[in-house]
Parts: sequence; C-alpha cells; structure tokens
Amino acid sequence: MFNPIVFGIFTLIARSCVATPIDPASANQHLQARDGGKPLWSEGGPKVEDIKQDGFKDDWFLAGLASLANAQGSSKIQDIFKLDQRGIDNIDKASITLFNIDKWDKAEKTGEEYKGDSQDVKYADITSKYSGANDNWWVAALEYAAMKIGGSDDIKSVSFKNDGGPITAWSMITGIKSKEYKIDRTGDSWKSELWRVLKSAPESYVCIKSVSHPNEKMRSIITGVTWYAVLSVQGSQYDDHGQIVGENGGDGQVTLFDARAGSNITVSFVDLQDQVGWQVTPEKLDYPASPPQPPKA
Ligand SMILES: *[C@@H]1O[C@H](CO)[C@@H](O)[C@H](O)[C@H]1NC(C)=O
Repeated sequence: MFNPIVFGIFTLIARSCVATPIDPASANQHLQARDGGKPLWSEGGPKVEDIKQDGFKDDWFLAGLASLANAQGSSKIQDIFKLDQRGIDNIDKASITLFNIDKWDKAEKTGEEYKGDSQDVKYADITSKYSGANDNWWVAALEYAAMKIGGSDDIKSVSFKNDGGPITAWSMITGIKSKEYKIDRTGDSWKSELWRVLKSAPESYVCIKSVSHPNEKMRSIITGVTWYAVLSVQGSQYDDHGQIVGENGGDGQVTLFDARAGSNITVSFVDLQDQVGWQVTPEKLDYPASPPQPPKA
C-alpha cells in the first residue's frame, strides 16, 4: 500500500490541537452563504446525505466522511471549521485546520508543538468538480482544504501519504490512527468476525473496500475496488459466540453508503460477505463502543 511518490503530505486534524475551538452552539446553526450562495451545512450539522462524488476519484475520502457523519463524528467535522463570524447566517468563508502527518510525525519526534495548518476556503473556490449534494458545501470545503494542505491538485488516493483511505480522512478530522485489514478468508471465523465489525456501525466508524471483481449478482450493486461507509446492519447473522443465527443462516442485512451515487445500498450479509476485500475500523477486534478521542496535543 505504501506509495513513495507522495508529496510528503498529510494530514491529520486533531481538534484538540486547534488553538481556538469554535463555539459548538454557533457551529450548529443553519449556515447560509452570502449572495444567494449555498449553506455550508443544514440545521443539525454535516450529514451523510450531503455527500455525493463528482469530478474527483475520492470514494476513499468520502467514505471516511460518511462514516464520520453517520456516527458521532458529525460534531467533530463541525469542530474543525473555524467560521467567519461576521454573522453566522451570512457565511461564505471558513478556515479549516488539517494536520500534515509528516509535520506531525516530525514534531512528535522532536517534541515540538505542531498545531496543524489552516486553509481558508471560500464558497467561490468551489467548482463543479467538487463533491456534494443537497446544496451544502462542507464536503467540497474539506476536499479543497485537503488538497491545498496536501500540496496536490487532485484528491486521488495516490496523492496522499501511504495511499489515501478512509483512515486518512479520519486522521485528518479526529486524530485517529488506524489500519486497513485485508479480509483473511482462511479459517472458519472470518464471516462472524466481519459481521461483528460491520455491526459496530454506527457507534464506531466502519468502512469496507470491495474486491476487484464483484460477482455477477453484486456487480450491478457495487463497484470493484471502491470504498463504502457502513451505516448500519439490520437483523441477525451471528451471535456473540460466532454461531450462525437461525435455521436458514441468519437474516442479516447491511446498509452501505455509496458515495458515487450519493445513496444507500442495503444488501444481505450473505451476498456481501465474499465481496469485501478490506475493512477498517478504529480497532479491528476491540473496537470501542464509541470512537476514540483525538490524541492529546
Ligand atoms: C440510509 O441508511 C441510514 C442508516 O441505516 C438511515 O438512517 C437513513 O435514513 C438511510 N437513508 C435513506 C435515504 O434511506
């Protein structure tokens, strides 16, 4: 996965490192852009349904954002926006602080303080290439800031340190460091383990990456080598001891968010299980009931 041709980039936003956190009360308002523009987010803050991929190939980034917005991460997303306080109903500019991972790593080694890099984003900066739905532009603003601070003019995964994945987006926003796990289909327990991981959404952040060639049944539903956020599961498939539930093999269903389409997909776990190549959660096995907190500054 390591790609040496990166720009030395990225990235990590640790909100605990942001010098002046914004007032959460004001951040949760309906933020209307000036001059007939569009709101940054609608009442209640960033939502999964604001996300829809457009001109950039950044399913990896958007899956990370969707899993954050779906879990308790929505307020974490708001927290990294330092808003132009000329009037919260009248905003066309925000300042976003991202942590450049290389700088952060260096600072950790030398014991220096690193407070991240801030990037101003104006509504006028957002072109049709940027992602978004529902008129809200927080997704586009994050893409813009990520590219500027990363020194890239595209948000392709290869432009980011170690290749971008949802964990890169999580790191940028919450300070979580995590790993990608390739699904190991040897042994008996991988299906129940995968179910257990999927079931930890939405309390925890969970994303999966599809295999290169989804089977015939799933090919019309999911695209190969694409990241999806796991929004929730329904029904039951395996019990806590990994035993399959029900005579007919359980009725577990999984709801994914497809960032390309900007919509949900609900499929049976049985159909999905062989189509998952990789999974990420903040921790693979002992995933916490709630997402971990950012590291202390
Ligand atoms: C998508 O799935 C989530 C989680 O199950 C649910 O809360 C949301 O309402 C769904 N959205 C749509 C448009 O079906």
